[in-house]
Amino acid sequence: MNPRKITDNVFSVGAVDWDRRLFDSLIPLPDGTSYNSYLIKGSEKTALLDTVDPAMKETLFENLSDIKHIDYLVAHHAEQDHSGSIPFVLEKFPGITIVTNQKCRDMLVDHLHVPADKFRVVADGETLSLGDRSLQFIFTPWVHWPETMVSYCARDKILFTCDFFGSHLATADLFVAHEAQVVEAAKRYYAEIMMPFRIPIQGHLTKLKAYDIRTIAPSHGPIWNKPSLIVDAYADWVLGKPKNVAVIPFVTMHDSTRRMVRRLAGALIDRGVTVEEFDLPVTDLGKLAMSLVDAATVVVGCPTVHGGAHPAAVYAAYLANALRPKLKFASVIGSYGWGGKMAEQVAGMLSTVKPEIIQPVVVKGLPREADYRALDALADAIALKHREAGIAP
Ligand code: FEO
Repeated sequence: MNPRKITDNVFSVGAVDWDRRLFDSLIPLPDGTSYNSYLIKGSEKTALLDTVDPAMKETLFENLSDIKHIDYLVAHHAEQDHSGSIPFVLEKFPGITIVTNQKCRDMLVDHLHVPADKFRVVADGETLSLGDRSLQFIFTPWVHWPETMVSYCARDKILFTCDFFGSHLATADLFVAHEAQVVEAAKRYYAEIMMPFRIPIQGHLTKLKAYDIRTIAPSHGPIWNKPSLIVDAYADWVLGKPKNVAVIPFVTMHDSTRRMVRRLAGALIDRGVTVEEFDLPVTDLGKLAMSLVDAATVVVGCPTVHGGAHPAAVYAAYLANALRPKLKFASVIGSYGWGGKMAEQVAGMLSTVKPEIIQPVVVKGLPREADYRALDALADAIALKHREAGIAP
């Protein structure tokens, strides 16, 4: 492929990874992803912004085949999907200087063994001149690692954001074409990767308001030529109140927990609460993560096995806690055969998020009529909590 023009002398030279289905051996990628790298040809200097996952380095070099000289390689983030081809770029362009912040420099030395004398370390707000245009570096730690930064080209009003505002989406579109599809992919990306860092992201959204941004060029997914689309979406995901939604991730062994989930879900819907159910052994965990972006309540459905919680529910509770969503309330429902501390174990796993725990409903064997009435009472309690919190009318 050839470099794709974004504007005069600014090109996209990265790679689309249509086939990748898992990131970090953890995150499902149902729609693939891309590793966007950008080339800016200034009147005096040429800069490459980030590289690509080393598995796709041939595509990067194909796109750079007509480029004889690159002065700078700007590294916004040390994670290998953007930095992993740096050693190969150094081999091809040995005179290149890697421009990044001190933390990212140290990580690149540790993770990739990049020679320490190849760097120019920049400070927050510092500017790098390319001649007729320049790049200003804006530190945005924790989108997604502590060293992350973005850069702003005032002449073209482009913000290069690496992971920030990205979407795991393989597409032939250089710019966002199908808005709903890309916003959904960006929400999945936010849920899986950015949500734990909601607090620092709040500050970054405020900081970026000072810049006149016409284009946001992330390093995953298509380029946002209507920046308000993704900036407004982030404002809602990060700052918006949780919604009148109860998420029910569950696992069942002999159908007791499934029957309980069905009764609770119906009772919640009757009371005006939106329900999203996830049968954990067959669910897409990315979808569960997306639901947690907006949910006010999570109810984990879990049977007891070997005296404790089913491992699938443990995994879901661990994930919900690690992603640090805006959850306000939580409960546990499920069954046991002869004993165990399943509910306490699951509720205890939400120790970082610290939602208010609403009285769990745990039954022996198949639920009886009294158990179903207890689930109706749990639905009453959740609906009331949502109303009291101003989440439901
Ligand atoms: Fe796309 Fe945090 O790497």
